[in-house]
Parts: sequence; C-alpha cells; structure tokens
Amino acid sequence: MLSHSCLKSLLFLMSTWGLCSSHSSPRPLRFSAFLDPTQQIHLRWDHDSKELMTFELEVQSTGWVAFGFTTHGQLPGGDVVIGGVLPDGNMYFSDWHIVDEHTIVEDESQDYKLLSMNQDETSTTITFQRYFQTCDAHDQPITGDTLRVISGFGPDDTIDFFKGKLIHKSLFLMLYLNENQLNTPKEYYVYDLKLDDFPIPEDDTTYACTFIPFPRVKTKHHIYKFEAVITPRNETMVHHILVYACGNASVLPAGVSDCYGADPDFALCSQIVVGWAVGGGVYMFPNETGISIGTPRDAQWIRLEVHYSNFNYISGLIDNSGIRLYYTPELRPYDMGVLQTGLFTFPIHFLPPGVEAFNSYGLCNSSRFEELNGTPVPDLHIFGYLLHTHLAGRGVRGVHYRDGKQLRILCEDNKYDFNLQETRGLKEVVTFKAGDEFLVECRYQTLDRTSLTFGGPSTLNEMCLAFLFYYPRNNISSCMGYPNIQFVAHELGQPAADAMEGMMAINLVEWDNNTAKKAEKACKEADQIVILKTIDEVVVNETGFIRDIIEHEPAPCKAIFGNGLSAEPEGQARYQPAVTSRALNAKAILPSPALLVIYLGFTSLLTFSLCPLKVSQAQTRNRRKHQQPSGWTGGLSLPSMQQ
Ligand SMILES: *[C@@H]1O[C@H](CO)[C@@H](O)[C@H](O)[C@H]1NC(C)=O
Ligand SMILES: *[C@@H]1O[C@H](CO)[C@@H](O)[C@H](O)[C@H]1NC(C)=O
Ligand SMILES: *[C@@H]1O[C@H](CO)[C@@H](O)[C@H](O)[C@H]1NC(C)=O
Ligand SMILES: *[C@@H]1O[C@H](CO)[C@@H](O)[C@H](O)[C@H]1NC(C)=O
Ligand SMILES: *[C@@H]1O[C@H](CO)[C@@H](O)[C@H](O)[C@H]1NC(C)=O
Ligand SMILES: *[C@@H]1O[C@H](CO)[C@@H](O)[C@H](O)[C@H]1NC(C)=O
Ligand SMILES: *[C@@H]1O[C@H](CO)[C@@H](O)[C@H](O)[C@H]1NC(C)=O
Repeated sequence: MLSHSCLKSLLFLMSTWGLCSSHSSPRPLRFSAFLDPTQQIHLRWDHDSKELMTFELEVQSTGWVAFGFTTHGQLPGGDVVIGGVLPDGNMYFSDWHIVDEHTIVEDESQDYKLLSMNQDETSTTITFQRYFQTCDAHDQPITGDTLRVISGFGPDDTIDFFKGKLIHKSLFLMLYLNENQLNTPKEYYVYDLKLDDFPIPEDDTTYACTFIPFPRVKTKHHIYKFEAVITPRNETMVHHILVYACGNASVLPAGVSDCYGADPDFALCSQIVVGWAVGGGVYMFPNETGISIGTPRDAQWIRLEVHYSNFNYISGLIDNSGIRLYYTPELRPYDMGVLQTGLFTFPIHFLPPGVEAFNSYGLCNSSRFEELNGTPVPDLHIFGYLLHTHLAGRGVRGVHYRDGKQLRILCEDNKYDFNLQETRGLKEVVTFKAGDEFLVECRYQTLDRTSLTFGGPSTLNEMCLAFLFYYPRNNISSCMGYPNIQFVAHELGQPAADAMEGMMAINLVEWDNNTAKKAEKACKEADQIVILKTIDEVVVNETGFIRDIIEHEPAPCKAIFGNGLSAEPEGQARYQPAVTSRALNAKAILPSPALLVIYLGFTSLLTFSLCPLKVSQAQTRNRRKHQQPSGWTGGLSLPSMQQ
C-alpha cells in the first residue's frame, strides 16, 4: 500500500528569535479575502514593482497550514508552501509540489521566503514572499489571470497533506488600488439593489433577475462605489452578481424570474456596470469618475442578476442578497461610460463540439465613432474592464491597435472562470482614440459537448465580450463584430448564397478536430462586420479584419534566494541551481545536537521509519554569517518513506 507514499516530511526547524527582524514588509498588505466559506482561512496580499508578492496567511488551526496554486483546480501539478509551529515553538516552512493525488514532494528549489510566523491558542499566521515568476518549473506563475488557489490545514503538525482540510478557490491577485487609496466623499448616500425575500430554488444553478430603479435624485449625483450585501449564511449560495444598465427605451417586466428562461424580457439590458463574485470585495471608481444619475441622459433602471448555486438542494432558504451602491452630490470631474466590445451575440457565433481549444474573434473598428456620436469623441480613458463568456469560456483577451499597429494587450484572463466575473482595474489608465481598433479573442473548451454551441443569451449558449470602463462618457454603447459566415461556410466546403444559408451550412459540417481547426482559421480570416450602437439604439455598421496578436515576451524569472532579496537590481536576478547551494551549504546547516533531539522526538511522533538524514536547503547564509535573518537558522529533511 502506497497511500501517502513519499510523504516527505521536510522540517525546517528554526528558533523564534530569527524571525523578529525589521525585514518584514513595512507597509500593510492592501488586499485580502477569505479563502473558504466558513472563514477559517484568511489571506492578505500585496505586490510591488519588483514583481514580488507578499502574503499573510491566517488560519484557524494550530497544526500545519498550506497555501499555493494549482493549474485548473486539480491537485496534480499544484505548487504549495507548508508551514507551522511545533508545540515547542520551533517552526517549519517549505515549498512543495503535488505530483499526484497521493504524493507531495519538497521542491529542490525553494522559492518562498518566510518573513514571520506566529501562533496563538487558535490560529497560525505566516507571512512570506515569492516572485511572480520563479525559475522553478514546479512553481505556478502568479499572473493577471484568475488563479486557482489551494489552501488547507491539518489538526496538528503531522503533515498529512491529502487528509487535511483542502480548499480550492479562484482568486484574482493583480489588484492595483484599494479603497483607502481613493477619494471618499464627505456627503454620501447608500442604496441597495437587492432581491426581496427571494426563495432560493432547490436547484444547483439559478440565475434570478429583477429590474430595480437607480436611486431617484433631483440633481446630478455620482455613484462611486459598489459592494456586495450577501445574506449571512454558512455556505456560499450566492456565486456572483451582475448589474446591467437599461436603456430608457426598454419596457421592463415586473417581478423576479429566470434571467435566461422562457421570458426573453428578463434578459433585457445588456450593459454591465458592475460585477461581483464570491470572494470579491468593494469596487470603487477612480477619483476622476463616477456613474451619473439624476440627469435625462442617465440610465434609470438596472437589471440585477444573482447567480445561486444550491448544490446540496437545501430547501426553505430565503435570500436578500444584492449590491449596495454609494452615491454622492460631490461630483467627480467625469461621467463614467461603458463600451461593450467583442463578438456580436447571435448564432453566427458558433463553437464546434469536442475540442480542447477553439478561438473566436470579435472586432471593434471605431472609425465611425465620431459620426455616430454626433460630435467629436473625446479620448476614452479606460481604467477597468470586465470579461464575459458563458460556461465554455477558458480565456479572454482584449487587444488594442492604432494605425494598424498593436499597442498592447489591454486586458486578459487566460484562466477565465465563469464564477469569478468581476470588475478589474487596469494598472494604468489607457487612452483609446476614435479610429483605434479593439479585438476580443475568446478561447473555449467544448470537450463535454456533442453538438454545436451557438452565440446567445442563455447560459447554454455562448458569449464573447469585454466591457471597457472609461471616462468621459460618449454616446456609443457597443462596438462588436462577427465574421462573414458565407466565407466561413465556403472554407468548410459548404457553399452558401447568403448569411442565412451560411448559418444553416455550419450544421452540415462533420465536426472533428480537423474541421474545427479549419473553422477557427476561417472565422479569423473572414472579414468582420462591425455593428456599432448608441445608448439610444441607433445602429451603424463598419467592416474590418482580424489582425494577428503579438504575444507578450515571457516575464524573466527571479530566484528569491538568488542574490539576496533586497540588494537585487530589478530584472537582474539569475537562477542559481538549488543543488549547488545545497552542496555548498551542507556543512553549515547540520543541526546542533540539541535541535536534533527535538527533531527526533518529533519525528517519532510521526511514526516514520527513519531513513538516513539528509541535509537540505540553502537558506543558511544568514546563520553562518550571524546576520539579521530572513528567518532561517537551519534545516533538515527527512526522505520519504513508504508504508
Ligand atoms: C484620490 O484622492 C484622494 C483624496 O484626494 C487622494 O488621497 C488619493 O491619493 C487619490 N488617489 C489616486 C489614485 O489618485
Ligand atoms: C449552518 O447553519 C445551519 C442552520 O443555520 C446549522 O444547522 C448548521 O449546523 C450550520 N453549519 C455550520 C458548518 O456551521
Ligand atoms: C429616451 O430616449 C429617447 C431616444 O430614444 C430620447 O429622445 C429621450 O430624450 C430619452 N428620455 C429620457 C428621459 O432619457
Ligand atoms: C451625444 O449625443 C447628444 C445628442 O445627439 C449630443 O448633444 C452630445 O454632444 C453627444 N456627445 C456626447 C459626447 O455626449
Ligand atoms: C479532439 O482531440 C481531443 C484530444 O486532444 C479529443 O479528446 C477529442 O475527442 C477530439 N475531438 C473530436 C471531435 O474528435
Ligand atoms: C450595413 O449597413 C449597410 C448600410 O446601412 C446595409 O446596406 C447593410 O445591409 C448592412 N450590413 C449588415 C451586415 O448589417
Ligand atoms: C476600419 O474601418 C476603416 C474604414 O472603413 C478601414 O479603412 C480599416 O481598414 C478598418 N480596420 C480594420 C482593422 O479592418
């Protein structure tokens, strides 16, 4: 039996004095989230211009605690750091990777640096750092994608990882501003957009929609902040909430209904103004802007969409969740606008079944912006975005071009999670000029499907959208493209006389990975028809073609113990093979006899058969030199044992 074979218990024993250094990060960590629904695991984090991420993990446990990243939420390939405080006050902390469902192995290259560790009667708090991109293939890069975080803990210091309480969560770490860095007005009002005693259906997925007026105000005000108000409950029922602004022309239905069900009116109003998802916090607009209410040009109603997941079919739950908005008469310089870009949502957008990856493209060619706006269009200052696909979506990118040249990949999420749709801020405000182009690429996976998926509003259909948040607002609400379907049908050997026949012809194709590749290529090479709409639903069209996307240079990797953390010039860190330093330092970190006694006492507790002790890890320079530490005073590793 090899149940937790290779449970390699690596223990870094350290004395507490080593940790109380002035080295720990001087400013408070700006961002935080609970990682589990019962709020036992709390994470704070922050990052800096050196691409160094600092974490503080606080867990309601006095046993081992773990934190890390996985590729798709599955254990194999996971990258975790595990630490804890032994009953005698000694500590352990180390970087591991998960090989399979039963095996976890300590990394040769240690890329997490411990800053501090504290334990009281009930909880353990560990502060540590790592670079976004380490040089170890066993570590997952930290990117601006939706990361799949894994965290966990055990009842004591026997690191039985797979028997611990393990929590998976999607989390976005590349936040740039928190509330305290933004302007809070002196005079403000609060208003809730929420459901009223809604009985949560005994169903795994429910999208409840209702129409609610914005606050009625006699003079112009700005909405400057949103936060979720979730009915307190010990399980996550509310998965995400979206707020869509309605045009003044729509006749809206009353009551609450399925957003994408029998009554299509409950899918009216398509302009997302804010998105919140489980784990998301407050969203506050930049100082320069807010959503205008109280003037004739403003939206008066919104559609509130609340996504419930009642996977345990619990009955009798009544919910009043929604979004709280904050508004103020202290006007900011600009009104905010939202530009909807991507692929026009209708059945010319199709996805072949059974494919690992299929890309769709929608272009915004803004060359007719001025004509449509009625007056010259001031430059759009884009400060945030929200990406949107349905369940088959795996990645979305938005690419900005000017005069035929790619300026930047403006926004992207290569690990898109339908359940984590949230408003995200750009690192810097980007200027989009009338005449620029914006291309949205969506990547889908349809391995679970046996028939074609078409563009449409229902969750079984697909979308490919990027909402761009900008100021000052103009009259244009959407700019979306779709491929010439006749061309696509022709390329797939199904000649069609017009667009309608082209759409029908897609059904005649025999789908396999080859035809899917052909279709993807044809959809990219086809001319695009670009549809532009104003907030008053005036429509014009334009044409365009899909340009190539120039990929990023991969970020250079950095080794945290490479050349000494703080002294390191930016971008110059070089990978130092851990093995080398391990050999070099082997002598220096042999434990004192006293430590060894503690250690052996502890390991017998673990009921491990002792294999020869092996010295490990390189973080000992400080000790050798008796300098102020990065926390390490010594280390030992216990090779794996098999039961
Ligand atoms: C926003 O305004 C506040 C108050 O004036 C100021 O303290 C803060 O630095 C500003 N934030 C940004 C990001 O400009
Ligand atoms: C959750 O709440 C229900 C009733 O509100 C209670 O019966 C149950 O024990 C709670 N579960 C946890 C894990 O707190
Ligand atoms: C509503 O939209 C129409 C154009 O469709 C416009 O003429 C009218 O002024 C708008 N009314 C309000 C109250 O916004
Ligand atoms: C939007 O349209 C109105 C009416 O056509 C016009 O007065 C206004 O200048 C336009 N442009 C902007 C940026 O609001
Ligand atoms: C396409 O290839 C994948 C393996 O990459 C396979 O799982 C899938 O079934 C294939 N799809 C079709 C439609 O043949
Ligand atoms: C685009 O607009 C032109 C002129 O308004 C119209 O004739 C044409 O049918 C439109 N094309 C599409 C695909 O909507
Ligand atoms: C956008 O439209 C303009 C005017 O029709 C055209 O010259 C330009 O090539 C278009 N851009 C793209 C990417 O097709």
